[in-house]
Amino acid sequence: MEGDEYILKATDLHKSFGGGAAREHVLRGLDLRVRRGEFLAVMGPSGCGKSTLLHILGLMAGPNEGTIIIDGLDTTGLGERGRAELRREKIGFVFQRFNLISVLSGYDNIALSLRIRGLDSGGTDELLRAMGVADVARKKPSQMSIGQQQRLAVARAIAHKPDILLADEPTGSLDSDNAQTLLELLASANRQDGQTIVMITHSPAVAEVATRVVYMKDGRILDENP
Ligand SMILES: Nc1ncnc2c1ncn2[C@@H]1O[C@H](COP(=O)(O)OP(=O)(O)OP(=O)(O)O)[C@@H](O)[C@H]1O
Ligand SMILES: [Mg+2]
Repeated sequence: MEGDEYILKATDLHKSFGGGAAREHVLRGLDLRVRRGEFLAVMGPSGCGKSTLLHILGLMAGPNEGTIIIDGLDTTGLGERGRAELRREKIGFVFQRFNLISVLSGYDNIALSLRIRGLDSGGTDELLRAMGVADVARKKPSQMSIGQQQRLAVARAIAHKPDILLADEPTGSLDSDNAQTLLELLASANRQDGQTIVMITHSPAVAEVATRVVYMKDGRILDENP
């Protein structure tokens, strides 16, 4: 619902992995509210469950308990098809491990993401230029540097101008100049296009571009009072 102040609401999320003695309770009643137009940075120690949380927010994995409401829509009862549709329509995702399609060129990784949404891929070259990776248009991911793959992954996630961009350490493999350029692009997507961004980062300097920073500890967001 457009009128809702929050574009993303996660309530009482629980997520465990493994069973028996090896069972690991990663999310433990986590609450998070993300306002429309917010640029939120999520910080926390390695292994605390940040990527797990982001995958659940992006409807790529289900929680054991809890609800995710996206743009007023409770996703709890949605089947795989409904989740995929919502993801395609509203969400852009930058994976910590990029998840580029290895058999496709840089250009086609972006163009495909646009075409499956029924969008024109005409702006692909320009986007690659803006991200500083025009030279990877014809290369396959395995022929790119890690930093180039990361920027391509971000380009692919923002190409369709999603309402919600979920980015898992999008500057983790970049030197400080390239990180800065990428952050400026994200900040402009946030300010000019009104994209809501949830970004995981380990870097306090990177978190500074965000409009709010939250910390994860013991499977929850600290000081998040819904
Ligand atoms: N698919 C899975 N199967 C089993 N355990 C998992 C799975 N995914 C994550 N975990 C476990 O859940 C915990 C949290 O992992 P997660 O990747 O969410 O951490 P993180 O905060 O993103 O860490 P990092 O900062 O290193 O990226 C880890 O102990 C990890 O081993
Ligand atoms: Mg992670």
